[in-house]
Amino acid sequence: MQNKGTYYITTPIYYPSSNLHIGHTYCTVMADAMARFKRLQGYDVHFLTGTDEHGQKIQAKADEKGVSPQAYVDEVVAGIKELWKTMEISYDDFIRTTEPRHMERAQKIWQRMYDKGDIYLGKYEGLYCRDCESYWTEKQLVDGNCPDCGRPVKKMSEDAYFFRLSAYADKVLKLYDEHPEFLEPETRRNEMRGFIEKGLEDTCISRTTFDWGIPVPNNPEHVMYVWVDALSNYVTALGGPEDSEQYLKYWPADVHLVGKEIVRFHAILWPAMLMSAGLPLPKKVLGHGWLLLGGEKVSKSKALKGKDVVDPVILIERYGIDALKYFLLREYTFGQDGNFTNEVLLKRINYDLANDLGNLLSRTVSMIEKYCGGAVPMSNTHDDIDQELEDMALACRGKVETEMDQFAFNMALESIWQVVRRANKYIDEKAPWILAKDESKKAELDTVMNHLAETLRIVSVLIYPFMHTSSDEIRKQLGLWYADVQWEDADQFFMMYGEQVKRGNALFPRLDIEKELAELTEIAEEMDRKKAMESVTDPVEKAILNSVPLKIKDPIEFDDFDKIDLRVGTIIKAEKHPKADKLLVFQVKMGTEVRQVISGVAESFTPEEMLGRKVVVVANLKPRMLRGLESYGMILYAGEDGDLHTVGSDAEDGSSVN
Ligand code: MSP
Repeated sequence: MQNKGTYYITTPIYYPSSNLHIGHTYCTVMADAMARFKRLQGYDVHFLTGTDEHGQKIQAKADEKGVSPQAYVDEVVAGIKELWKTMEISYDDFIRTTEPRHMERAQKIWQRMYDKGDIYLGKYEGLYCRDCESYWTEKQLVDGNCPDCGRPVKKMSEDAYFFRLSAYADKVLKLYDEHPEFLEPETRRNEMRGFIEKGLEDTCISRTTFDWGIPVPNNPEHVMYVWVDALSNYVTALGGPEDSEQYLKYWPADVHLVGKEIVRFHAILWPAMLMSAGLPLPKKVLGHGWLLLGGEKVSKSKALKGKDVVDPVILIERYGIDALKYFLLREYTFGQDGNFTNEVLLKRINYDLANDLGNLLSRTVSMIEKYCGGAVPMSNTHDDIDQELEDMALACRGKVETEMDQFAFNMALESIWQVVRRANKYIDEKAPWILAKDESKKAELDTVMNHLAETLRIVSVLIYPFMHTSSDEIRKQLGLWYADVQWEDADQFFMMYGEQVKRGNALFPRLDIEKELAELTEIAEEMDRKKAMESVTDPVEKAILNSVPLKIKDPIEFDDFDKIDLRVGTIIKAEKHPKADKLLVFQVKMGTEVRQVISGVAESFTPEEMLGRKVVVVANLKPRMLRGLESYGMILYAGEDGDLHTVGSDAEDGSSVN
């Protein structure tokens, strides 16, 4: 395969403030698909992800938990790495901003900016959102709160270093003019342009109010503002800013994939920092939209009052990695927001994966086994329908390439699925089961089987970047387990003659959507409850939140209850039943009356233990003979057999219990 050069792709580095949700996996899944796609095309890919571990928010979280910030992030980062492992994310490097390799090199970037004269000491006063680590002006607030997360902001004042961002406003605008491809989609570029044109002020890039950060060179009283620290990762992970093998090979990045709310940092602050430090600029910043839950961004800090499970680990456990990846890449349009619900996920799995792709595979393989003894036959005949399928399958690779160049993952998958659906329709049109009944149609039948096998083989190549496990499974069933996926093979039609197919498990079992939704709702509610519990300290409130409904008998009317006459009584005599080991015979004094009541409680109490106890008696129960002795009522007990307790009352004997 010809080497097409290098391709450096990055995700944002995630805050390890708590576990990641499906919104975070969205970006990483896109980056992974692009990295795999480029590798398959012959690029030397470097795919970087990591974690952004400094800042006040992390420090506060660690304090809350009573552990050191390092211990806190170590634990969360281990979980994040585990998640990427589960999802088979093919990153080449994982950078943690607490690693010495990052900290030292981030200081070097700072020093270069300082030496350029772009960093100076001043005083910062402003409205600070701790959660977003951002300062805002009065005008930027929405209803007096942080415009990003909606939480309250706090007035802060501190000695701080400033970066002469204002000096770079024109240069950044010029960058957008000369290289519009630097920032996409266009709507984001227009937004950023508007933002800069309103006037860029110098920005505060150090903090003294906490110390969980990278010390500022020559003034360790200050730690670097977390965004200056974080953005540097794209260079430091490669060994920059000093010349090093990887840095020289991969920098500048081909693309920084980021969520829309952090485009501002990547498309203004980052290029300005790099210009100041005298380093080349990345080729592209691409802003994607958000996954929404009930119209709001899926987020870890807002309580998830929905019925939808957003924990990727649970979804993967139930439906598999490929189902989740396919869904994320197919359902959403790059750059736009989209609603997430478990229902759309399940429908995609059933319709696209189980029905379309899964059926095509199982029908094809089982028909080749049935009609051709398991070996892919030669294609000897040819008509317009055969040609149409062939043309469509062969044209697909080019379409996928064009769409992937635009990061239109959903369109790329849609193009592949057009072929899948066409192939299913081809089966219905050709009706091989009818051809099989007529010996004279054998050649035609062979052609159909051959075309289906070839189409599926091409599909297995094209889906590889998006869902490699399913691609492997298809190839296994097609008898191609021995051959590596080659992107060029999607350009060939007749490669399958003589391959031995073998039916395997269903690629995607069909789901009972109603049942799945009910179970997911239960899981989501349980998770909501646990989340709510985390912040509650009051034991009563905790108990109320923890309350789980008892399993009780069907409801009764009050009139039914009112028929029961319950009375308080005292046991004045207790003895064993002469003819039954399990029974005790009591004389119970209930006000004016003394009654004989028999209970089957000899395994829980001795007669002596019962003597003198206050009990509650169902007084109007019809008398009953128990082994020759009459019982006039029933004593109430609580608990299980063998561990019974009497139900007493201090009230006078004979009083009614209502
Ligand atoms: N640490 C910074 C990034 C520094 S990059 C130099 C950060 N971290 S984050 O964990 O809050 O977010 C990381 C990414 O996840 C962002 O690109 C953000 O847009 C993305 N998402 C978080 N919630 C999301 C959705 N609900 N939907 C899609 N993406 C989401 O910001």
